Amino acid sequence: MIMKVHVLESLLTVAIATTVWSPAVFGFVVPRVNNHAAGSITALSANVGIFFGTSTGSTEEVADLIKAEFGDDADGPFDIEALEGPVKSTFEKYDALIVGTPTWNTGSDTERSGTGWDEIYYSTMQELNIKGKKVAVFGLGDQVSYAENYADAAGELHDVFESLGCQMCGYTSMEGYEHEDSKSIRGDKFCGLLCDMVNQEELTPERVENWVAQLRAEGFFEGGSAQGASAATAAPVPVTVNETPDGLFETIQEHSDMLDETIKVHGSTGFIPHYNGKTKSTMWVSPDGRSCYYTTEARSSSSVSM
Ligand SMILES: Cc1cc2nc3c(=O)[nH]c(=O)nc-3n(C[C@H](O)[C@H](O)[C@H](O)COP(=O)(O)O)c2cc1C
Repeated sequence: MIMKVHVLESLLTVAIATTVWSPAVFGFVVPRVNNHAAGSITALSANVGIFFGTSTGSTEEVADLIKAEFGDDADGPFDIEALEGPVKSTFEKYDALIVGTPTWNTGSDTERSGTGWDEIYYSTMQELNIKGKKVAVFGLGDQVSYAENYADAAGELHDVFESLGCQMCGYTSMEGYEHEDSKSIRGDKFCGLLCDMVNQEELTPERVENWVAQLRAEGFFEGGSAQGASAATAAPVPVTVNETPDGLFETIQEHSDMLDETIKVHGSTGFIPHYNGKTKSTMWVSPDGRSCYYTTEARSSSSVSM
């Protein structure tokens, strides 16, 4: 059946053809360039290792920034899915570990990274003898579209290492974030560095810089015990907040009407909308979480055929 929708001023129009997501948990494979070949892990020498999991590359980008800040003081970054040797010997050779993960698959309580971490948390990692090692966690997420589950998986990554007796470092202030809830909150802080490459990409380099400086101050590179997570946290990166502009509420109403209209069109497919006010786009995720597409605002009148 052909359905046409005309919206006078603005139209949420299908902007990007259906995108298939690649998290390991969904069983999809989208080619991703792996710049960190497993082979390079054989030439380790430093005391700190950086490890990450990723599905679409953002966590890898942040791992690269962290590595650039650490310079020769850290090995890696290494993709958890591309380790050449066993996880056990790879992790146990370091005194300190920096570990990063994205969050996918809202709804589950555990194994939500959508990466190789999920495969080893409760199996291989349980055999690790890493008690006393210093560990700092970083996590990627989307605090606007997933405000109630922002970077949840970083919390699980943190808890797995903590349960193995590791000394957790690098907790950060929640100032400057817009989330409503997160399983990564410990006390009044995040349990590591959280970055949002969807909504606050421009803040990431400074956040990384501050965090690495904080880790140095916590004694992350020194032998023996670090001061740990309770030490002073990095200064939050200031976020520019604009005053409420005139007409804001009318704009919200207008967007709400457009969303209603779009839900009428796309909702019948069973896809679930996640509106992102920052990017002004809506991500439509299929009921099984295996595929999605975006709609964004267009300024001209247009029509959509379905
Ligand atoms: C289907 C889907 C589910 C997601 N679930 C969450 C979530 O629960 N919490 C969150 O903070 N971000 C969520 N995200 C956003 C990703 O975590 C974010 O884009 C991240 O940067 C991806 O990292 P990667 O490129 O390293 O895989 C989700 C994204 C998609 C497409």
